[in-house]
Formats: sequence, structure tokens, C-alpha cells
Amino acid sequence: MFKVNGSSRSILFAFLFFIAIGCVPHVAWGADGPQPPANLRCEYLSNPVGIDVKQPRFFWALDHTERGQKQTAYQIQVATRSELLTQDKGDQWDPGKVTSDQSTQVAYAGKPLESGHTYFWKVRTWDSQGRASAYSRAAQFEMGLLAPEEWKAQWIAGGNQLRKEFSLPAKVVRARAYVTTLGYYELRLNGQKVGENVLDPAWTTYEKRNLYITYDITWQVHQGANAVGAMLGNGWAVPPKHYGPPIVTPYSSPALFLQIQIEMEGGKQLTLASDTSWKAAQGPITSDGIYDGETYDARLEAPGWDSPGFNDSSWQAAQAAKPPGGVLSAQMMPPIRVIDTLVPVKMTNPRPGVFVYDLGQNLSGWAELRVSGPRGTAVTMRFAELVYDDGMINRETIRRAKARDTYILRGDGLETWEPRFTYHGFRYVEVTGFPGTPSLDSLRGRLVHSAVEPTGSFAASNPTLNAIQKIIRWGQRTNLHSVPTDCDQRDERMGWMGDAHVTAEEAMLNFDMAAFYTNFVRDIRDVQGTDGTITDTVPHKYGSRPADPAWGTAYPLICWYMYEQYGDRRILEENYEGLKKYVEFLRTKAPDNVLRYSYYGDWVAVEKTPGALVSDFYYYYDVQVLAKIAKLLGKSEDAQTYTQLNAQIKEAFHCEFYDAKRGVYANGTQTANALALFLDLVPKDAQGVVSGNLFNDIVYAHDSHVTTGFIGVKYLLPLLTRSGQADLAYDLAAKTTYPSWGYMIENGATTLWELWQKRLGPSMNSHNHPMMGSIGAWFYQALAGINEETPGYERLRIQPQIVRDLTWASASVESVRGTISSSWTHSPGMITLDVVVPVNSFATVTIPKEEEMTEMTVREGERAVWENGKFVPGAPGVTGGREISGDIVLEVGSGRYSFKLTGR
Ligand code: BGC
Repeated sequence: MFKVNGSSRSILFAFLFFIAIGCVPHVAWGADGPQPPANLRCEYLSNPVGIDVKQPRFFWALDHTERGQKQTAYQIQVATRSELLTQDKGDQWDPGKVTSDQSTQVAYAGKPLESGHTYFWKVRTWDSQGRASAYSRAAQFEMGLLAPEEWKAQWIAGGNQLRKEFSLPAKVVRARAYVTTLGYYELRLNGQKVGENVLDPAWTTYEKRNLYITYDITWQVHQGANAVGAMLGNGWAVPPKHYGPPIVTPYSSPALFLQIQIEMEGGKQLTLASDTSWKAAQGPITSDGIYDGETYDARLEAPGWDSPGFNDSSWQAAQAAKPPGGVLSAQMMPPIRVIDTLVPVKMTNPRPGVFVYDLGQNLSGWAELRVSGPRGTAVTMRFAELVYDDGMINRETIRRAKARDTYILRGDGLETWEPRFTYHGFRYVEVTGFPGTPSLDSLRGRLVHSAVEPTGSFAASNPTLNAIQKIIRWGQRTNLHSVPTDCDQRDERMGWMGDAHVTAEEAMLNFDMAAFYTNFVRDIRDVQGTDGTITDTVPHKYGSRPADPAWGTAYPLICWYMYEQYGDRRILEENYEGLKKYVEFLRTKAPDNVLRYSYYGDWVAVEKTPGALVSDFYYYYDVQVLAKIAKLLGKSEDAQTYTQLNAQIKEAFHCEFYDAKRGVYANGTQTANALALFLDLVPKDAQGVVSGNLFNDIVYAHDSHVTTGFIGVKYLLPLLTRSGQADLAYDLAAKTTYPSWGYMIENGATTLWELWQKRLGPSMNSHNHPMMGSIGAWFYQALAGINEETPGYERLRIQPQIVRDLTWASASVESVRGTISSSWTHSPGMITLDVVVPVNSFATVTIPKEEEMTEMTVREGERAVWENGKFVPGAPGVTGGREISGDIVLEVGSGRYSFKLTGR
């Protein structure tokens, strides 16, 4: 069982030690065979508190000491108490040994889950030889408040600070707070903040849905006197009036909806709910808004207001607020948090009294100020992405957003302050009004966004690509603020749907987006009209209804990407009717099978493409996706209807847009031809000429530069790669002259720009806009070659592209089934490829080669797997090999492999 050598000897000693003291470690370190399942998730979340899905889905990752391993069965146990699990008893659900290879999306099917209950679960699996693993460590999940009648709370308002005292007659055994607000909250108990979320709850269409957050507050309340307080901010619910007429009715003030449930020793219970017995007052936050910033007058603080014993006789009674009207749902996604603290790289003093901090990175969040000075001194921080040559901040890219935080000092020593209810997109902070001269230590950058976990990494031998990858990731995460936003700095920051879908694949490869998009797709459903229409932005604040088809397509496409990346079939089921309604709406606009209406088309392109072509491309795409979903869900009649419709749209597309004389679509832009080719809308006999014209346009007319907007660029590089022109795709990716990603890098970008052009003046011109980042998916899928063949990577295809002078590329993805990685190196006559395939997955691995290579040999480790034109069986895990169009393609099971290809 144990290999006694070097490091494993100490493991053995540790093991013997545990046995000697009578306690066998839970994980059998060093044991061969199936390892205990790890990374247990419920509804994509780790140990979630407060979920409201009645049949939550479970996920686990497998590990095994051998290659080529699969799960052949599992046993899951769900218990109401953790002690039961230690005795291997699942009193809530234990289906016994289930013969199945499913290790993701396993839906709960036990006794009904009860409101407010915590459940514990663990799982073990059996491998291909029928060997059982040890059980995993226990994980847990907790239900939220499931029935509307359990809510005793009332919506209340009346001031931006609300408080209530309560007394508990006995020791606390368990306590939970359930909270939501119109606008933002900071919940406080006995003088302390509850939890770490900021800018919470997530932004929703409030009249449709309000998301409540559940906190375990067992350790924050106690027998005797207690106090709860809430600070409220306007958030998206109460927009400032000067931003023009809002599309949705704004609320006049933020409001609170809170319920605390406490269980005490001796079975006593207490429910405390927000109601008009609460007290309200205006606190030190004298103004707050997402675009404009926050002003905090520390002289107005009321010390002790959030603790028991505070004299609130001057406070008003809280008022009942009008309920927003939506349903209450559990917030089940990574919350917005302060993710990191950045130390400024530089401080300058361009004018007397003006200090400008450079954080060295464009980020979303705010600054923390450290200051001491006379009472009443107002220190103002203004935020900007750029500086002028004279060192003063350039705020032309943030349009009308005031992006200004002001702190008014108490005057009692060192004061540290950060705002609560605003955020900015910035690299530079201008400080004025500072008493004395600030130092680098007077300010810190606080990075704030939805706390999605990084799950992917990519690097290659070309530093330009690495720099692009870096700005993609920065741009992507700083634009996750409970919805995917277009930008984080100006008076916008909307869930623009076009931007959302073009970045979705890249985002899913770089970060764990499963719960985030599950929520966003529901947000989309919430804006859908009875006529099937959806809107340009979700929640709907900007733009039109119906959405531009290239924006509305986010609904079907993100659902589909969720299925591809995570194997999520439930999202397809839950949205099928909505998707169908959406497609049926589009159909009413396309009586002759061509969908022409368009507002933005291939937005921000260097060379414009007619919007009608872009809209019609997405009409075809949406119907195609719907037909696939219908087939998958066994709706055969619909599948047939939409497959037929698809064929009609295809024919009509060609008739409408093909210019036979020139051999191009519409006006012959890169986007027009690339879209047509990408979805195979080009009849066979025209494919050669259209591809040729696309090639000529890129190479000869534009010296291998892109001229597309953010729509075209999503498909151009994958299309070229697929059609055997990966070198050309790489040329586009690696360019450093205008227009290119490298051009942004050369010009100092630390996040992606909105425009290909370098513009520092007024007009639409954000310096943090993630939408051109779709190329990030191409890094993983084409250069490193990581692709899913079947949903959720059960079958995957590793097919890296060796291009031009690139000598290596490497990527890894933390998929729903575990780690996948692919790393290759290329030197003349030799290619190495290291691959990791998760347990319970299979991969088809295409070993990349030099174009003209012959007499190829492939070794895995020391053993030949391909020689003399033939597959050589015998290497563990490598089950087959073929030559496909000159490439050696191997079939491999799970495990780590090191391939080396040599040839002449
Ligand atoms: C946004 C875009 C968005 C567009 C719609 C802009 O103002 O920033 O990213 O997709 O409007 O055309």
C-alpha cells in the first residue's frame, strides 16, 4: 500500500503516530486507489448559508493515484446533524450505492428540505475496479426561509441609520439574520459589522425580486441586552435625479427588510423583525450615490448607536415603507467584497494642496484614507483613470459621474475611513483639503468586486499575450458587481447584454462564474415581457426594449455556455419557455426570415458592418441554440420546428447579404465575412472565395490587424483557427500597433479599453471595458487547446496550436470535474505536451507538430505510444491513437501525461 521512500516515509510515520494515539486521520494519505472526493459544492457554492433551491445540486472533484480512472458509483449521505455523518448515517438522504458516473449536478432527492435547517453531507465513490474511496470530509448547506408566511418583517425607512434593542433571556444556541434592502446596507450587531459583504444585496429588478442574505450570527448575540443597527445607502434603488429620466420608477429612499431568528437554551425562541418600533435617524453619511461618491461627516457619528444602552430618545420612529413588490429570493452567488488592498506606487504634488496618488493599476473600488487633523477639516478624494501631462487627474473618461468622496474629520487623532455605499473605477486618486502633507501611507486602494474565485491561468512565451491576459483578467473581475457591467467608472456601469455574452466564455475560463451567471440568467428572465422581449441592459436602466438582437442573444448564449462549461441542464430546463418566447418574439420581426432591426450592431468597430447582418446572424444563432435545447430536453416537435426555421434563416441570410460579384457578405468587412463563415451560413461553393476575401482583407488591406468591433472579434480568431489559419489568428493577437490589444498595452493600459483607438479626451471612451476580452477564451481554447467536447468536460479535446515563433504555451482550468491543464513547448524537431485530465473524464489529445514533419515518434514518459506510423499500446491511460489529417491524435483517460513528439 505504501511506497516507503523519502517524503512518503514521514507520511508513514505520521500515520503510525495517529494510529498509536488511537485516531486514524480521515484522509488516508498515500493510500493508492480512489482518493476521497474533494471540493464539495452545493449549488456551485462552498458550504452555502441560506439557499432556497428545493432540490439543490451537489458537485465533487475526484482524485486517484492511477490513470484512466472513472467513477462507477457513488454514495451520498445528507444528515440533519454532523454527528450522524460521523456514524455514516444520512437520515435526510442516503440512496445507498448508486451506480453512476455522475460527479457533478447530482440533484438532491431526499426528504423535503426544511426552512432554516442546516444539513451536512459527504460522499464516497467507487472507481473503475470497484474500489471504494474513503468518504470525503463533511460539507454543509443551509436552507433560507422558504415560505412567504415565515417572513414577519416589514419594509421600513425613515433615515439612513435604523436601530433596535432586544434582550435575550437565555444563552444563545443558534441565531440567524435574514436581510435585504432597497439600496445597500451595512448590518451591525452589538457594535460590529455582520459579515464581510459590501455593496449588498445584489442589484435586481427590485419590483420583481429582492435578494436576501442569510448570516450566521450565533456568536454576535448573547444572553442579556443586544442591539441591531442598519446603515442604508441609495445604491441602484435611489438614483440621483440629475442623470436624466429613469426607465424604471426610482424609489424615494432606501428601505430595510430584516428578520432575526434566535434559538436559546431550554428551547426558547425569539424572532425579531424590522417594523415601526425601530428607531431611525440620519447618520454621518450625508450623501451617497454610486456615480457621485459619498460624503461622511464624522462629527455626526453617534458612538454606541449600534450597541445596547444607547440613548435614542432623539431618534424618530421608523416608518413603514412601501414594499417594492417583488418576491424574496435567497442570494446565491459570490457577494461583493473588498478583495485586496493596494499600496500606491507613487504620490505627486502637481499643484499646491493637490496630491495625486497612482495605484499603478486601474481598479474598481475606493480608497481608504488615514488622516489626523483639526475637527471639521474636509478631505476630498476624486477618482480618475488618467492623468494629464501636468500630473493633474484627467476625468474626461468618466463623463458626468462625480466620483468624489469627502471625509470630514472628528479631530481626535488618527482617523481611518473608507466609504460604504459607492464605488469608483480608477487608477489615480486626487486628494485635496488634506491637513498638512500626506504621505504614501495616507491612502490605500481597496479593490472591490464580486468575489468570484480565479479558476484559470494562461501564459505563453510571448510577453504581449501575457500582458493581454493580465489586462483581460483585471478588466473582467473589476466589472463583476453582482451583474456583469460594461465599465466601472463613468455614469453607466450597466449590465449591457452584448458585453455580457461576448465575455462570458473568457470569464468562465478565468473565474468560477457558475453561481454568478445562474443569478444573472434569472435577472434576464425577470426583465422579460409577456411578449417575449428582453432589454439591452439587465436590470433595465439604459437602452431599449426590445434589445438589439446582438444584445438580447445573451439570454440563449449564456444559458448555452452554462451548459457547455458546467454541464448545467437545469438552467436549460428553467429557461426553456423564456427562450422560446424570446425566439418567437424575434420571429414576429422577421416575417421573411431575415431579422433586420438593429441599434448598435458590431459596436465600436474600426470598419462598420451593417447592423442587419449582425442581427440576423444572432437570429440564426438563437434559433440554432433553441433547437439544440429542445432536442436535449426531448421536445421533439419544437426541435423539428426550430431546426426547419434555422434552415430557412440560413437560406434567407445568404440571399439577403451575399454579394456574389465581390464574393463577400454585405460590405465585405472582416465581421461580415467572419460571422457568415463562423456559423456555416455560407454555401459550400462560396466558402473558398469568402474565406479568401477575408484573408485578403486581413493580410493585404490591413497588414494583419483587426477592424472589427466587439462582436466580430469574438468569432474572428476562433474561425481562423478552425479553418487552419491559426498563424494568422496569432498575428492578430500578437500585434502591438493600432488597432490591437497590444496597442493598448504599449500605451500603458492596465485594463482593456472600450475603443481600439487611444482617446484621452471627452466622449465615450472608457479605459476599463471588458468586452474586447473575448480573445481570452481563444488563449485557452486555441493556444493551450483546452476544449470541452461534451458538456461539463466529461469528454475533452486537447488540441493546442503551435504558431509562428511561440515556443511554449500553458493553461489550466479548474473545471466542474477538476483540474484540466495543457502545456506545450516547441523547439526545432521536438514538441513536448504535458496534459492533466481529471478523474472521470476522457480526452482526445492532438499532439501538435511542425507543419512539414514526418517520421514522427511520440513518447509518453519513457514509453513509445506512436512509432512507425502506428499507435503503440501499453502506456497506462493511453487507450488508442490515430492519425487524422497528418496529426497524431491519442485517446487518454484521466491522469497526468508527458508527451514528447519528435520527427524530421
Ligand atoms: C456601453 C457598451 C454597450 C453599448 C451599447 C455603451 O455605452 O458602454 O459597452 O454595449 O453602450 O451600444
